Amino acid sequence: MNIAVIGTGYVGLVTGACFSEFGVQVTCVDQLEDKIESLKRGEIPIYEPGLAEIVARNVRGGRLSFTTDTAEAVAGSLVVLIAVGTPAASDGSTDLAFIEAVSREIGRCIDSYKVIVTKSTVPVGTSDKVRGWIQEELDRRGDKTTFSIASNPEFLREGAAIGDFMRPDRVVIGTEAGDDHAIAILKDLYRPLYLNETPFVETDIHSAELAKYAANAFLATKISFINEISVLCEEIGGDVQAIARAMGLDRRIGKKFLHAGPGFGGSCFPKDTASAAHFARELGQEFSIVEAAIRVNQRQRQRMIDKVILALEGQANGKTVAVLGLSFKPETDDMREAPSIEIIRGLLERGALIRAYDPAAMAEAGRLIPEMVLCKDVYDALTDADVMVIVTEWNEFRMIDLSRARELMADSRMVDLRNIYDRERIAKAGFRYWGVGR
Ligand SMILES: NC(=O)c1ccc[n+]([C@@H]2O[C@H](COP(=O)([O-])OP(=O)(O)OC[C@H]3O[C@@H](n4cnc5c(N)ncnc54)[C@H](O)[C@@H]3O)[C@@H](O)[C@H]2O)c1
Repeated sequence: MNIAVIGTGYVGLVTGACFSEFGVQVTCVDQLEDKIESLKRGEIPIYEPGLAEIVARNVRGGRLSFTTDTAEAVAGSLVVLIAVGTPAASDGSTDLAFIEAVSREIGRCIDSYKVIVTKSTVPVGTSDKVRGWIQEELDRRGDKTTFSIASNPEFLREGAAIGDFMRPDRVVIGTEAGDDHAIAILKDLYRPLYLNETPFVETDIHSAELAKYAANAFLATKISFINEISVLCEEIGGDVQAIARAMGLDRRIGKKFLHAGPGFGGSCFPKDTASAAHFARELGQEFSIVEAAIRVNQRQRQRMIDKVILALEGQANGKTVAVLGLSFKPETDDMREAPSIEIIRGLLERGALIRAYDPAAMAEAGRLIPEMVLCKDVYDALTDADVMVIVTEWNEFRMIDLSRARELMADSRMVDLRNIYDRERIAKAGFRYWGVGR
């Protein structure tokens, strides 16, 4: 089968590469010439473990190619996956400009039956709009070509995207009532997973669209929930990690996403929770749980800044803060809505000097916050620092040489926003320690 994937970002590139690995003939499209040119040269524009090898193998095998020409990619494809960005607008709603542009481009160039699949995360009803935009363009040129639309939301996690795509917990496919042809085609596309006994949830388009928001809103709520417990722990002198374990061992609750910390960030949770709350309001309803999760998350960011200032005895002005970890989570270079941004800006506003290090996100972080000093490694960042603040739990921060750190730092203080260190061990090494909810 030949497919086109439009939008070659985190989702589009992983999707295209993984389908080509399954033996599908894939053309990935992006409007950014530089991105496509570098992919053609074999350079991967994002940091995602395992992706470079898969891309290289399938380009060599002739199953994966890149272009900026949507019409050319769509022409030879039975399935067209839309994987462009759906950023938040200022009122929390979703900006569908990229989706509309791609839909209209598709409408202008299709001349045979295709299944048009929305893989981007989009508010309920967007696939109907996609149908409308394509149809308008077809009508404009009096073309009678027919097409199916489908929703196939993506659940992969950055940093573990290949595994998540190849061995997903489930695949969700929403189609229009009675469109068995589209379901059959999409099942054929996903056949390797079907044979693998991956669960498939087949449903209507609106439910598929909402399923993605429901899943992300639930996970974000879990994070905000444990962060609120961490606040209570700080009041009672309790240990949020013991509580998370006590909760998580209950299989009805599960251990995942019960880590107290600086709150959720990244390219998905902040915008998807805001969007879910927004479209609930448009329906005349209140998505109260998710509204609360968003509020808790905002408060948590502020609490993290306060925690660092507390460690600096109330005075950040003129102090040097070593920030370890900038990306919104480990194993990615993605800085979108990373907690580090707000925390660093908050500390800069209070007059602190920031020395920062991240294994993958330095270039983008430096562009976002030019006022901070970018350091070449952990120990460079720690040099002359009054406090070390662990913001992202990259593995290399779990085994810091604490005696070397003490020698380099102006003062021995650690603020561990990911609870990766043990208070006793840190105390033995001569550090004062502040965790989250402990
Ligand atoms: N990143 C994730 O972990 C993740 C996970 C699940 C779902 N999603 C959803 O998937 C969608 C894509 O996310 P992403 O992180 O891959 O975004 P991204 O910003 O990394 O990539 C989007 C790409 O689309 C390209 N694009 C925009 N308009 C185009 C057009 N008209 N023609 C061709 N290319 C065009 C952009 O140049 C960009 O390269 C979003 O809706 C997001 O919410 C993301």
